[in-house]
Amino acid sequence: MQPVKIGILGLGTVGTGTCEVLHTNAREISRRAGRDIIISHAATRTLSNVKLSNPGFKISDNAQAVVDDPEISVVIELIGGDQPALDLVLSAIANGKHVVTANKALIALHGNEIFQAAQQQGVMVAFEAAVAGGIPIIKAIREGLAANHIKSIVGIINGTGNYIMTQMRDLGAPFKEVLADAQALGYAEADPTFDVEGVDAAHKLTILASIAFGIPLQFDRVYTEGISAITREDIGFAEELGYRIKHLGIARHSADGIELRVHPVLIPQRSLIANVNGVMNAVLVDADAVGQTMYYGAGAGALPTASAVVADLVDVVRSLTADPENRVPHLAFQANALSDLPVMPIEQIETAYYLRMLADDKPGVMSQVTGILGTAGISIEAVLQKEPAANQTQIPVIMLTHTVKETQMNKAIEEIEALPGISGNVTRIRVETLDHD
Ligand code: HSE
Repeated sequence: MQPVKIGILGLGTVGTGTCEVLHTNAREISRRAGRDIIISHAATRTLSNVKLSNPGFKISDNAQAVVDDPEISVVIELIGGDQPALDLVLSAIANGKHVVTANKALIALHGNEIFQAAQQQGVMVAFEAAVAGGIPIIKAIREGLAANHIKSIVGIINGTGNYIMTQMRDLGAPFKEVLADAQALGYAEADPTFDVEGVDAAHKLTILASIAFGIPLQFDRVYTEGISAITREDIGFAEELGYRIKHLGIARHSADGIELRVHPVLIPQRSLIANVNGVMNAVLVDADAVGQTMYYGAGAGALPTASAVVADLVDVVRSLTADPENRVPHLAFQANALSDLPVMPIEQIETAYYLRMLADDKPGVMSQVTGILGTAGISIEAVLQKEPAANQTQIPVIMLTHTVKETQMNKAIEEIEALPGISGNVTRIRVETLDHD
């Protein structure tokens, strides 16, 4: 068989790692793919930063030339972000080339348009590396679990956020200090907004939900809350109650529609996912036939991400000769079989809650708080109250509640915050038991 020629857009960390894996494992990769894979041309914006010595292929700063090269059958997009990645990918598809991408923002925001264009042209767009780095979670859900009705997906899908939460717990350090440390170590970007405010995780959850439930990509419907407001005190109180705070992406198929949410969550310390630490990622899938399965591994980094990119490339090369209708559909379900199940607003979602409030150390305050919760039909599961320190007149009160609809909880919190004996805002963190759905 003739070798397949590929082009690479972007020679940063993942691009360089992909070249390395293709070179180091060339023999095994071609034995798996059925033919040799040859990098023909790689483009990078900053030629002076290229770290490959004697690459054995052309390197230029002309990405459009890669996309327009008639010899190239597969374009690997590793630039990241919105533009110029979107235009280059659409241009590659228009030129009849298959695409492999690690770009979660691109797929979450523009995937519907990209897949439609790809279907019209009869080409493949593969994106395993866009979610959870080296963990083959897309393949597991799309193919390995194809027999199942998937009930829920719960994931630690941002390594930077998980590193920060882990360090805050282990060192008892505040968020800002740990973030600065993560930036110094190169785990967090100079602008950490996407990681710590949950945007990166929301991109990934959007993709996971689509392939799990057969719904169009709907990034703008994901409820997103970050970790910047989590205090070390909350982490400590959660531990005392037998829970750990993790920043999770949750997608659940419930009776009223689809839940799509990214926010901090108290989960039982004994659960496997509560013990996923540092920069590692993990995804817990609950499905009707198989039950719960969990996938764990490196969610970022040059070689783990390259592992997913090259696996996609092997898949594309293997199916080059298959009829487009006989290939695995981009979003797991056939394009004409996507469902219009609504994504539920956060107010409609039911969870249990951790509440922390600062109360005056006076008789009657606690009974006013429990009165509000009781009237709202919210049952209290646990209460934690500390003795006031010397000279202090206010104390933190922590409560765990039973499951209740978010809209009811919002109303109760508003009333509690209006009590004269309560200072400031009530901190609220959702609680999940992670039992079978
Ligand atoms: N910034 C991401 C993370 C890595 O921290 O998990 C790539 O998705």
